[in-house]
Amino acid sequence: MNENFLWGTATASYQCEGGWNEGGRVPSLWDVYLHENNLENGDDASDHYHKYKEDIRLMKEGGHKAYRFSIAWPRIIKNKEGEVNPEGIQFYHNVIDECLKNGIEPFVTLFHWDLPQYLEDRGGWIERDICSAFVEYARVCFEAYKDKVTFWSTFNEPRYYVFSGYKIGNYPPGLDDTQKTIQGSFYMMLANALTVKLFREMKVPGQIGIVHSYAPVSGVDNSLETKIAMRKADNFFNNWILDTAIKGEIPIDMLSILNEKYDLSFMKEEDFEEIKQNTVDFVGLNYYARALIKPYTSGETILRINNKGKEAKGTSKVVVKDWFEQVFDNPDSTYTEWDTEIYPQGLYQGIMQAYRKYGIPIYITENGIAFYEDVPNEESVDDQGRIHFLNEHIDAILRAAEDGADVRGYFVWSTMDIYSWKNGHEKRYGLIGVDFDNNFERKPKSSYYWYKRVCESNGATIERSKR
Ligand code: BG6
Repeated sequence: MNENFLWGTATASYQCEGGWNEGGRVPSLWDVYLHENNLENGDDASDHYHKYKEDIRLMKEGGHKAYRFSIAWPRIIKNKEGEVNPEGIQFYHNVIDECLKNGIEPFVTLFHWDLPQYLEDRGGWIERDICSAFVEYARVCFEAYKDKVTFWSTFNEPRYYVFSGYKIGNYPPGLDDTQKTIQGSFYMMLANALTVKLFREMKVPGQIGIVHSYAPVSGVDNSLETKIAMRKADNFFNNWILDTAIKGEIPIDMLSILNEKYDLSFMKEEDFEEIKQNTVDFVGLNYYARALIKPYTSGETILRINNKGKEAKGTSKVVVKDWFEQVFDNPDSTYTEWDTEIYPQGLYQGIMQAYRKYGIPIYITENGIAFYEDVPNEESVDDQGRIHFLNEHIDAILRAAEDGADVRGYFVWSTMDIYSWKNGHEKRYGLIGVDFDNNFERKPKSSYYWYKRVCESNGATIERSKR
């Protein structure tokens, strides 16, 4: 592997920081939604707000070369008038400085879902004004950190976030509204383009990308019907983010289908021009699983996600009316307790597809597996299942690099156990265990020591599969 390859781990502000009402942070839409609905929340999360030094020390001792984290918009901008919070600015200076002092490259995401509530009150992502609010927030961050940060991402997973909030309804604002889903998606991609434009105008000395929840599409067979369903699924899952951000083109076949049923008049000619002119330098791909697709048969659209784990295993269902259906019971596959297929070959196929199609640098910005683990009662969780999973996925990346793909980094999700949105804290992804009931004590798992050897050997300790 190239000697500059970035081996790291990743987190997100709301999921790990805690300190939800400290340091001048204002509420995000997640705080309000979870508090109002009496749901498990990330008020304390993993207490990274207070323990970031310990966490970054563990990263260093774990051989990590990079740390992907997000800046919390509600820590930086206090109100809709754009007032900056100096304490929030200082907090991320501290995190970034601590990274640099320990030889760890900060890989910064501007938006990992914690929208300030004052913007949600104004309509959130379905109002055009959100684009300028986001650009102004980005300007503040670029000004503050541009001399220290090289790698910037605008958004984490626009598709997953918008669909969960506006269509599936399991994330705030909890809606089931296709028109709003289209609007929110469009404004987010427009905000991405306008932020890239600002980045270039400000001559920020670094690179800017976007992070996508990548679900490479495969079909159940080679029939024409399946191929057509796969194209629709690829537009649904991937192309409207990747084509738009990287090529500056929203897939025209998707727009023309949507135009038959929905009002797209909010998309202006000049918006398409901005999108065309301002494309990203790199792409971050978060890979958990592929999407196995079959043709649509019948019934209404169903997007059912298992946020309950083992008690709801096997209940996930995705049917997009007239477009496609997703298979969740492939007899040749295994699935996690949360219905995620384990399919490392999809990562190899996905990287190769993305590289052939787009030809820009790729970072695997998230990859990992969740388990129920007894962190409080074990000195160090022996997570051989995670080690096996990570080995197979890194093997897939090494193969893709050997076959010519320009893949430049890999981030395990997640650094430590964190709050997993609607799944709560018991869905654990971390290389480092967190005892949430005992002062958030950090307890590195076997995978942490295993990954240290991978990072330090630049991938040479990975057990390779036969070609
Ligand atoms: C990605 C997100 O979708 O997957 C993370 O960027 C998230 O924020 C991760 O935590 C795993 O998903 P989940 O729902 O299992 O936490």
